[in-house]
Amino acid sequence: MKPVRSTILGVGHYVPTRVVTNDDLAKLMTTSNEWIVQRTGIRERRYIEHSGIGASDLAVPAARMALEHAGKAAKDVDAIIFATLSPDHNFPGSGCFLADKLGLPGVCALDVRNQCSGFLYGLSIADAWVRAGTYRHVLLVGAEVHSTGVEFADRGRDVAVLFGDGAGAVIIGAAEGDDQGLKAIRLHADGSGAKDLWVEAPASAYMPRLTAEMLAEGKHYPAMNGKHVFRWATEKMPEVVREVMADANMGVDQIDLFVPHQANLRINQFVGQKLGIPESKTVHNIEVYGNTTAATIPLGLSEAWREGKCKRGSNVLMAAFGSGYTWAGAVITL
Ligand code: ACO
Repeated sequence: MKPVRSTILGVGHYVPTRVVTNDDLAKLMTTSNEWIVQRTGIRERRYIEHSGIGASDLAVPAARMALEHAGKAAKDVDAIIFATLSPDHNFPGSGCFLADKLGLPGVCALDVRNQCSGFLYGLSIADAWVRAGTYRHVLLVGAEVHSTGVEFADRGRDVAVLFGDGAGAVIIGAAEGDDQGLKAIRLHADGSGAKDLWVEAPASAYMPRLTAEMLAEGKHYPAMNGKHVFRWATEKMPEVVREVMADANMGVDQIDLFVPHQANLRINQFVGQKLGIPESKTVHNIEVYGNTTAATIPLGLSEAWREGKCKRGSNVLMAAFGSGYTWAGAVITL
């Protein structure tokens, strides 16, 4: 029989061991701990220890932790969804690399390229697969290596200070009974803001895709209109939360834990206040990890679950906003 709902059977996460503080970055560009903390809340982030570690490598321990938490083995996974904006290589997708590293030949591997909303886009696909009976256990990962792709110089300082490396993973499977599981999920995109946060090159739209001039101009680094992103995020995150709360027929007072995407502490405090969700119910880990884009939500959920901030039966609200623009929200009863 097909399950009525899907749910999160287990969660896991992994961050590299190398801690990089704001003072460390201030040695590489004109910035300061005060500026970064005041504007973003970030105090430190993690970077990969050396070249050669890709998003799929960070995903391996996160996936193993999620499998153990779910009481499953790697062989139980019959589909992988890999959300990332920093794939190991341009192609093939990081899901294929991860499948190989987990020893899962022949298992479906799908990459999702929806930046900070990638995890929730992936959750929607995993939910549909499980409910349709297409796959029983979907490994959904958000993993990023940003530290090899930002510019450690004054030109790139607005973006470089924000991002960190890390991974989060969940196992999605059938919920037990109608009370448990994903109650509502909404996905949105608006490409009119695509160039407000993007990496222009290498680009298949250009011949050649990358030139020495483009490299000199830094077109291979992320470029961001921070003020626009900030404005959109503070408008769209509350909007999508209201949508999913209405779809789930729930009030915010019924939410046990709010796991917002971690782009900026100020954005999340603003969103929490606007929605009337207390700080005590909100996950913040941007102080120590920075913005790990597609990884922030599963990483935050995994830590919160382990710290006892949520448990089986808890109502968890998730919301994200990011490059694209893309934004999404979801409500799940664990
Ligand atoms: N250190 C010191 N000064 C800096 C830095 C830095 N790291 N970066 C920029 N500045 C300077 C600017 O050059 C500018 O100087 P000027 O006034 O002389 O021109 C000044 O600080 C103010 O810059 P603003 O961009 O106006 O700063 P703002 O208050 O908007 O804060 C920030 C910038 C923190 C980036 C903010 O806009 C923000 O958080 N926006 C949202 C970003 C975001 O969420 N991005 C991720 C989205 S998720 C995804 O999908 C990838």
